[in-house]
Amino acid sequence: MSMFAGGFGGFNVGGRSTVGAAGRKGNGLPFAGIPPDLAEGVARLEAREPGHGDPRVSYDPAGDTGGRITFTRLLTGRPGLLLAAALAVLVETLLLQAGPLLVQIGIDHGIAARDLRVLVAATAAFAAAVLLTGLATAVRMRQSGRLAASATRDLRIRVFAHLQRQSLDYYTSEKAGVTMTRMTSDVEALQSLLQDGFAQFLIQGLTMVVVTGVLFHYDAGLALITLALVVPPLTVASLWFRHAADRGYNRQRDAIAAMFADLSESLNGVRVVTAHNRQDRNVVAHREVVGGYRDANDHTGRINAVYGPGTSVIGLLAMAAMLYVGGRMVLRGELTVGELTAFVLYLSAFFQPVQQLVQLYTQYQQAKAAVGKLRGLLSTVPSVRPRPGAPDLPPIRGEIVFSDVTFGYHPDRPVLRHVDLHVAAGETIACVGPTGAGKSTLAKLVTRFYDPTSGRIRIDGHDLRDVTLASLRRQIGVVPQEPFLFAGTLRDNIAFARPDATDDEVWAAVDAVGLRELVERSPDGLDTLLHERGQSVSSGERQLLALARAFVAEPRVVVLDEATSSLDLRSELRVEAALDTLLEGRTAVLVAHRLSTAMRADRIIVVDDHRIVESGSHADLVAAGGRYAAMYATWAAHT
Ligand SMILES: Nc1ncnc2c1ncn2[C@@H]1O[C@H](COP(=O)(O)OP(=O)(O)O)[C@@H](O)[C@H]1O
Ligand SMILES: [Mg+2]
Repeated sequence: MSMFAGGFGGFNVGGRSTVGAAGRKGNGLPFAGIPPDLAEGVARLEAREPGHGDPRVSYDPAGDTGGRITFTRLLTGRPGLLLAAALAVLVETLLLQAGPLLVQIGIDHGIAARDLRVLVAATAAFAAAVLLTGLATAVRMRQSGRLAASATRDLRIRVFAHLQRQSLDYYTSEKAGVTMTRMTSDVEALQSLLQDGFAQFLIQGLTMVVVTGVLFHYDAGLALITLALVVPPLTVASLWFRHAADRGYNRQRDAIAAMFADLSESLNGVRVVTAHNRQDRNVVAHREVVGGYRDANDHTGRINAVYGPGTSVIGLLAMAAMLYVGGRMVLRGELTVGELTAFVLYLSAFFQPVQQLVQLYTQYQQAKAAVGKLRGLLSTVPSVRPRPGAPDLPPIRGEIVFSDVTFGYHPDRPVLRHVDLHVAAGETIACVGPTGAGKSTLAKLVTRFYDPTSGRIRIDGHDLRDVTLASLRRQIGVVPQEPFLFAGTLRDNIAFARPDATDDEVWAAVDAVGLRELVERSPDGLDTLLHERGQSVSSGERQLLALARAFVAEPRVVVLDEATSSLDLRSELRVEAALDTLLEGRTAVLVAHRLSTAMRADRIIVVDDHRIVESGSHADLVAAGGRYAAMYATWAAHT
């Protein structure tokens, strides 16, 4: 704020300072649910503050229906709040400018005229104006705060819902850090503009209009001289600031993103960093990134250090000039003392808005950039999406047919070429082959994580693309190669696909994979909290938990991608026995890392050279003397 802030305008505690507070709360991280120990407090808060209404966004797998995000839409989403805030702004601005007028009346008609009644009346009116302005400011900040909070809450849910809709390829091509930035700093930039920026914009703009009018009302000649003195240098300074700040704040944003990316990577890779003694180098690297951020901050700080005092000095010099020019007019009797005082006070009220408007402009720029990025995100169409009006997949028996399927993560580099595969309902096939051959890829195609580049995949005669994703995935259970556990209880993780599963069902799954001991050893049994990404259990236990998850889901088709690769032989044997029960009567595609697993399947397929090179029972393939026979010979020789 300027040096004039101590004047009448000083109590305009323009909410700029609240921006930081709003920016800190809610950082938009994916949210698993309200922890039980906080739930009560949240419920109490919600009972006290019911005004935000229900979010207007819910998850619709078909696509985002919210329309293009614009400032207008965001602002007019809750017209009642907007109207209340706008009225409060009007009252606030007009009352604020009543101050100097009352001072003038007090001086000219109270002090100079020696009329105590007028002086008392002017003072009382001044005090009343102050109180009412405070009230109007409170109303305005409250309403615009609510408006911003609910608009950004809806926007966050909308963006999150859209992220849920994205296909896997989106997450491969887009860095998680960038997505996080969209949800944090971009939404926050928008929030501060909605909460405070627009209201300030109105207040300052309106103030300038009102004050200019008042200055001319007092004395057109004096007003013209003032404007001639003040406007040109102020314009030059403001244009320079706008230009410099644009570049400075851009640099600052880039630096924040770089810092964030570096931080998140070293957090995720902390085990590897520790193991390879890279801590010192990491610190050096981070010091550089943080140094970039410091330089950017330093730069914007310098710009502000020039612009703020510079404009203040221009204003104060103009005021000094006014004292002389206006003072001479008073001496000549063309102006009263009160009028001169009011004039000088109004002049200071003219200045603050200019400085504020320029600052607001940078805020607006940031929010505009954020809206652009969020729009881009919301317009990303998932590559795997249901055909409009696609029906649900009816309950299936589980016959899977690949017809001439070609697929590559990059269209020019196919991983699978012209693959034909027929898995009968209830059949268990094992998929073997060298690392990187495309086994996991084949498994991902069955669950429609990706669509084939050409060819068709059908389940019970239904092309996967012709049924809804939800109905398809409900009937297919997957245990991925790298299982993922969520921060939550053991039970939440096991009953992930069917949150309504009973305790008995969860325990049955736990027993099936042989995890009873782990659960009983855990401090709170099934209610034991797991740490983020299941870092608090071993990778073998993670795999077992993921398997238990598949048991609870009871799908018709089971896809296991090296689901037992981290297990010791004894656990694996136990899991295999359990799998025999699980797979009974179900169709299963097992990517097998041990030939002992593969041997138990009804049929084995060997994936290599972008296709299925061999297919048949263990005995057939050994007899055929092909690649499987060679793999088996090597394996047998080592065991
Ligand atoms: N998301 C991806 N984007 C691009 N290429 C990928 C992706 N996932 C796997 N690949 C490549 O596709 C090939 C097959 O991978 P994958 O099916 O995982 O092999 P594996 O048989 O070991 O399970 C590999 O060359 C791998 O590098
Ligand atoms: Mg694999």
